[in-house]
Amino acid sequence: MAHPNNDIVPTVDGLAYGGDYNPEQWPREVWDEDVRLMREAGVNIVSVNIFAWAGVNPGPGEWDFTRLDAIMDLLANAGIKADLATSTASPPPWFSERHPETLPVNAEGVRLNSGARAEYCPHAPAFQEAVTEMASRLAARYAGHPALAMWHVGNEYYRSCFCDLAADAFRAWLQDRHGSLAGLNDAWGTVFWSQTYSAWSQVLPPRICAETPNPGLVLDWQRFSSDALLSLFRAEAGAIAAHSADKPITTNLMVTGDFSGIDYHRWSEYTTGPNRLVATDHYLIPEHDSDIAWPAQVAFGADASRGLAGGSPWLLMEQAANSSAWRRGYFAKKPGDQIRHSLSYVARGSEGAMYFQWRASRYGAERYHSAMLPHGGADSRVFREVKQLGAHLKRLAEIKGSTVVSRAAVLLDFESSWAAKTPGQPSADMATYPELRRWHAALWRRGVTTDLVNPAWDLSGYEYVFAPHLYLLDSDANLRAYVEGGGTLVIGPYSGVVDRNDRVHPGLPGAIRDLTGVRVEEFMPLPEGAVAVLDDGTEGRTWTEAAHALDAEVLASFTEFPSTGALFRRRLGAGEVWYLATRPVDLGPLLDRLGLTADVPEGIELVRRRHEDGRTYLFAVNHTDAPQRFDASGHDLLTGRPWTPATALAPGEAAVIRE
Ligand code: GLA
Repeated sequence: MAHPNNDIVPTVDGLAYGGDYNPEQWPREVWDEDVRLMREAGVNIVSVNIFAWAGVNPGPGEWDFTRLDAIMDLLANAGIKADLATSTASPPPWFSERHPETLPVNAEGVRLNSGARAEYCPHAPAFQEAVTEMASRLAARYAGHPALAMWHVGNEYYRSCFCDLAADAFRAWLQDRHGSLAGLNDAWGTVFWSQTYSAWSQVLPPRICAETPNPGLVLDWQRFSSDALLSLFRAEAGAIAAHSADKPITTNLMVTGDFSGIDYHRWSEYTTGPNRLVATDHYLIPEHDSDIAWPAQVAFGADASRGLAGGSPWLLMEQAANSSAWRRGYFAKKPGDQIRHSLSYVARGSEGAMYFQWRASRYGAERYHSAMLPHGGADSRVFREVKQLGAHLKRLAEIKGSTVVSRAAVLLDFESSWAAKTPGQPSADMATYPELRRWHAALWRRGVTTDLVNPAWDLSGYEYVFAPHLYLLDSDANLRAYVEGGGTLVIGPYSGVVDRNDRVHPGLPGAIRDLTGVRVEEFMPLPEGAVAVLDDGTEGRTWTEAAHALDAEVLASFTEFPSTGALFRRRLGAGEVWYLATRPVDLGPLLDRLGLTADVPEGIELVRRRHEDGRTYLFAVNHTDAPQRFDASGHDLLTGRPWTPATALAPGEAAVIRE
């Protein structure tokens, strides 16, 4: 459960603006130019020491803080704050050579070599000790430094390892979870294919094996790997807090793509609350590779981040000014995109906008990654926009600490998404995240501000809750309470199917059968490109079910199987629950039926932030190519001019209206 915290970057003046800063890649004279240009651009915080382990700790027992001292002092003198990283995401070659057991082993059993980054096994004691010592030494040295604003632990945790140390730790974790070997055999259904374990030593990580592995094992392995990374984060955070109790601690979570294999909701107990903050990295999928336009992608990353923060403000730690080096196909953003995108993140709860990275690297794997200061230098479109954005953010200081007003929620459950990917599924196309993203984008097009939240959290504040794909669900209790209390819940197909151990609930759709009043007789997945036509004219794709009403109204049926319902509604208590037995190609007609019609033309993004004392700000971003008017009155913080419903927002422009 996430804990509230509305004051996440207290020592930064106004909103945070900056990026990863790697001065160790540059001669000293460039640092002075960096600081001059940062000040020119309004940068007030940078993330330093992210990948600089080899500089601070160049060999066993050797510590050298000279360079980091100079960087911190440089920033302090320039009035720029530091988000000081612990550098533990990239152990240097000397460390791997000395502790070869810390190099990670993949599922094939191959130990990876050093030569890149994130080369560690989270279960190796030598690594655990080294990172804790690093965090402790840094915290002891810099806790009182005037540049220090916050701590940045590791970088984008994601690594898993299949080595023997991991196997031992996995067994201990399983013992804790299942109590006994008998409990584990029962949970995983190991009687199937004679997989019954008679000793703990027989239990292995899901290394590559002869055929389809046990899905219960695969699912527990993901939970275990997520917990192991959380332990690493907590070890470093604890070591920091022992010396530096008054500064926020964070790590950059990933909201790009399919997140990162971590259950960030389970982490939220340690990433939210006093002196913690949710910081996220978001990289857009190039529009040539996605059905979802960038503004809607930005909104998804932002709304997911706000969800991880439990609705509190959060911080966009990394975005790209242009292309990311690791994407298929290099691309340039359109003029103004980075400004519109950044304001949209801020509209949706970010307390600023940060980038990877400040200055483009001349060498290394990411030498073609974009940056605030590109290879083209300060006389560039990108840097001119960086300066313009800095000026905008400065004018928005008074929104700091406010939160976002949302009407709807889309349910995101990490465990369920993992379970839906376990091998042996009836359709390889029933992925969770693309479907969540599609529903979220449909709501975005209607101008509905949507939170992405865990199904077990309090949902009572939402008018609408959407569960596009909730494959794993143990109990319907929380969803039922939401509906009975007056909410409208819409559930997509192939939901409620399995329990926490990936065992199919008897009587489909399992955990939601009573709640929806629907009985599913069989699954009928569709081949790629095929559509099922409904008698209300809409079409479904990917998946259909032979579904019948037990205690629900049938609102639409499949034309090919008229006895088979495709869209159901059940009134329950003060609310209602809707169930879909297919994935609609176009979600618009369903949103119409739900009364979610748009108040503004598509492409006008209107999001409201509100202070506890009632002051509100309407963020408006015009993603269309025509001037747009909408019903708002107040004062635009970006231009300093009054705003009335007659005021037109020019194409590509944004306004932040103090109401
Ligand atoms: C991630 C990492 C950064 C950098 C960027 C590039 O977000 O945290 O170090 O590699 O990707 O997009």
